[in-house]
Amino acid sequence: MIKACVIGWPISHSRSPLIHGYWLKQHGIDGSYSRIPVEPENLATFLGGLKEAGFAGCNVTLPHKEQAFDIVQHTDESTRRLGAVNTVFIRGGEIHGTNTDGEGFLDSLKSKVPALSLNGQRAVVLGAGGAAMAIVNALLLQGMSEVAVVNRSPGKAEQLRLRFGGKVRPVLWQQRADVLDDAALVVNTTSLGMKGQPGLELDLFRLNPQAVVTDIVYTPLRTRLLEDASARGNVTVEGLGMLLHQAVRGFELWFGVRPVVTDELHDFVARDIDPDYAR
Ligand SMILES: NC(=O)c1ccc[n+]([C@@H]2O[C@H](COP(=O)([O-])OP(=O)(O)OC[C@H]3O[C@@H](n4cnc5c(N)ncnc54)[C@H](OP(=O)(O)O)[C@@H]3O)[C@@H](O)[C@H]2O)c1
Repeated sequence: MIKACVIGWPISHSRSPLIHGYWLKQHGIDGSYSRIPVEPENLATFLGGLKEAGFAGCNVTLPHKEQAFDIVQHTDESTRRLGAVNTVFIRGGEIHGTNTDGEGFLDSLKSKVPALSLNGQRAVVLGAGGAAMAIVNALLLQGMSEVAVVNRSPGKAEQLRLRFGGKVRPVLWQQRADVLDDAALVVNTTSLGMKGQPGLELDLFRLNPQAVVTDIVYTPLRTRLLEDASARGNVTVEGLGMLLHQAVRGFELWFGVRPVVTDELHDFVARDIDPDYAR
C-alpha cells in the first residue's frame, strides 16, 4: 500500500483527498491519500519522519509552503525561484520538494483556451500572496512582456518585482481598473470573492474584449468576476481547473502513474463544492 497525504493548519477544507482518491480508484492502485493537520511548530518533525511513517510524500498547504522549502533536502530550479513547496516526495531516502501551482495554473488555462499565446503579451494579476508568486513566475517563464501586480499592500507587489525583475510592475490597489486596457490575461489571486470573504470590486469598463479572465478562487465555482467578464463577452476560466491540474505531478511522483484531468473528475469535485452543479 502506497501512502500520501495533505498537510496544513487547518486542513479540514482540502479537496485534495477527493481528487487523489478518484485517481487511485480509477487506476486500481493499492494506495491511500489522507488529510493530516500539522501545527507549524511540528512541521520539521513531521516531514523528517515521513519516510519512517511509510509515506511516499505529501502535499503541503497553508501556512507551511515556505517553511517546507527550508526543510526539504532537494529542490528544483523553478521551486528555488519561489522559495515555497507544495509537493514533497521521497527519493533515495531523501526529502525532495517541488511546486506544482504554476504548472497547474498554466495547464488549466491551456486546456480551456488552447489558442491563447502569452509570449510578448501583458497580464494583470490581482494579489501578491503565495499563489500569485507561483503564477507570476509561470507567466514570466511563458515570455510575457509585463505582469502588472495589483495588491492591497503595495510592499508585497514590490517584493515580487525584486524577486522576478523589471517585467513585474507593481500597481496600487486603487488603480486596478485603469491597467486592464491592453492585458491579454487578467487573474484574480486574492481571496476576495471566495465564500465567506468580501466580494472583489473591479470595474471592467476598460477590460480588453479579447482578454481571458481567470479567477483562482473556486468556492463558488463561478465568481462574480467570471460572471461579469462573461457578460461582457470575455472568455473565462474557473479556478477549479488549477486545483485539479496542480495535483497531477504529485500523484505521478507518489503512485507512479500520470493521471489525466477529465470532465468526469471535474464534475465529481464540482458537485462536492456545489451539490446543484450541472454542466
Ligand atoms: N485554484 C487553486 O488551485 C488555488 C491554489 C492556491 C490558492 N487558491 C486560492 O487563492 C486565494 C489566495 O491564496 P494564497 O495562498 O495566495 O493566499 P495569501 O498568500 O494569503 O494571499 C492572499 C491575497 O489576497 C489579498 N487580500 C486578502 N484580503 C483582501 C482584501 N480584503 N482586499 C484586498 N486584497 C485582499 C492579499 O492582499 P494583502 O497582501 O494586502 O494582504 C493577498 O494578495 C485563496 O482564495 C485560495 O483559496 C486557489
